[in-house]
Amino acid sequence: FPVDRIRNFCIVAHIDHGKSTLADRLLEMTGAIAKTEKNKQVLDKLQVERERGITVKAQTASLFYHHKGQQYLLNLIDTPGHVDFSYEVSRSLSACQGVLLIVDANQGIQAQTVANFYLAFEAQLAIIPVINKIDLKNADPDRVESQIEKVLDIPKEECIRISAKLGMNVEKVLQAVVERIPPPTGSIDEPFKALVFDSNFDHYRGVVANIAVVGGRVNKGDKIVSAHLGKTYEVNELGLLRPDEHPTQKLFAGQVGYMVAGMKDVKEAQIGDTLHLQNQPVEALPGFKPAKAMVFAGMYPVDQSEYPALRSAMERLTLNDSSVTVQKDSSLALGAGWRLGFLGLLHMEVFNQRLEQEYNASVIITAPTVPYKAVLSSARLIKEHGSEEITIVNPAHFPDRSVVAEYLEPMVLGTILAPDAYTGKIMSLCLNRRAVQKNMVYIDDQRVMMKYLFPLNEIVVDFYDLLKSLSSGYASFDYENAGYQAADLIKMDILLNGQPVEELTTIIHRYFMRWLKRLIGRLLLIEYYIQVSLNKAAAIKPYRKNVLAKCYGGDITRKMKLLKKQAEGKKKMRRVGNVDVPKDAFISVLKRK
Ligand code: GTP
Repeated sequence: FPVDRIRNFCIVAHIDHGKSTLADRLLEMTGAIAKTEKNKQVLDKLQVERERGITVKAQTASLFYHHKGQQYLLNLIDTPGHVDFSYEVSRSLSACQGVLLIVDANQGIQAQTVANFYLAFEAQLAIIPVINKIDLKNADPDRVESQIEKVLDIPKEECIRISAKLGMNVEKVLQAVVERIPPPTGSIDEPFKALVFDSNFDHYRGVVANIAVVGGRVNKGDKIVSAHLGKTYEVNELGLLRPDEHPTQKLFAGQVGYMVAGMKDVKEAQIGDTLHLQNQPVEALPGFKPAKAMVFAGMYPVDQSEYPALRSAMERLTLNDSSVTVQKDSSLALGAGWRLGFLGLLHMEVFNQRLEQEYNASVIITAPTVPYKAVLSSARLIKEHGSEEITIVNPAHFPDRSVVAEYLEPMVLGTILAPDAYTGKIMSLCLNRRAVQKNMVYIDDQRVMMKYLFPLNEIVVDFYDLLKSLSSGYASFDYENAGYQAADLIKMDILLNGQPVEELTTIIHRYFMRWLKRLIGRLLLIEYYIQVSLNKAAAIKPYRKNVLAKCYGGDITRKMKLLKKQAEGKKKMRRVGNVDVPKDAFISVLKRK
């Protein structure tokens, strides 16, 4: 396929603005899938995506499209909308020259619209603004166009108004892709060079890599080298994703497709790696910035005998999700495990769910924490660590104040978009979370965009849920890294039946103490003692609950039912010390509502 008739583009948008629906329409119109009711969100392949109705993984599809008597090859990448998966978006953008930026005609610009716009803008991609859902009764495309012009500085005239659901004007989107997005720059006469931008593990074939061919061509049977490890492989299988695998003999410059080359170990197909032909070395492509983990948690097998199986499941899943960082860890109560770093709490939940659903693994996740830092004052410790500043991703290892000059906590710059009727409530929520307002502008006569500097720890667990509920679902939120700031931090130990439980240890800000009484409330199901220790100064009275207390009268069947229910509930528990702790306790301990 001549390179000048190839277009590589992503669809980006705020969550639920209709990316996957538009992708379905584009696939139908170009004949890649049949037009039936069953083919809904075909690119959301994972069980977790279908259950949660969100896109988690970017997916690729190659489409053939006729325009003015010529056939074009359009490579579409559908990307996730949620902030926790923005790493998927930035990786996908590196395989593209343009984006369709979808905005809901009723909701208008939202926090992730702005964030995704800047990702594409910084990557210098062509941006086609598409206003979707114009069929809705309260759609207001005029207003949305003005917002796009005001906030993103894109002329109104460039917007395309569509209804992805009804297929209205979708043809115009395809035309714009051809006319407004430039073709890739590589040529088939160069030496073969490809970027691995995603990969999967297949039980039968080993690693299946998604590649963007930047230059030259590759044939089935060629010997290729991965620049990262310098290992040579033979290409067994090549093809396009339409969106199902469609084997071909060759892939050319500008094309996006998949490759199977007998890589059996997940470490062999690193995302961001460059592939080239044997004896034809090329300069490695820039690859990707490593993802910056924002939330850390311990992960342990429910049963230690499952450790090896869980390790291999995790290796395979982290191949497909390279934004997770993995470090070995161990704990007295839970045995050998790992300390994992995630981009956010939803990311952590999705990872956990994928382990359970795709790999049949059952895991315990400990309370998540953000990465704190400490500036050490003890000369001995500085020597031991080789530096004055250390990062703490496990609260159990939080150094004592006596050896620390200063604690630091990670900060983020948050963007909130909401109707101005909610401004007051939002401001007090932010104040409550130790946030400092940086900016506030009206994006039209009713909606405001606010910027706040937050301690990451204050928003990571339940901030978004609270924001949504106090704004009746109208506020949206996104954030980016903003370095570290000094903070007055305390390590909080939790004692069960008098024994400290390392896995429940958390780092809190001094002001947080007053929440504690309420916080401990509903943690335990049965009659055990729970005690909180803050330098032993503020122990809280033990809390107890009897499951049978609800059974007034002598209804024995109801009692049995409850006891049975409790027994089932216990399966989800893990014995810590001499107490069964519900699997969720580790996270619940951090929620404040
Ligand atoms: P994520 O992948 O979770 O980020 O969502 P998405 O952007 O892919 O949105 P999706 O395509 O799943 O659409 C979200 C909802 O909007 C679904 O219920 C769609 O049926 C609906 N929707 C999408 N396009 C249109 C449209 O043109 N008109 C109307 N009325 N509804 C639409």
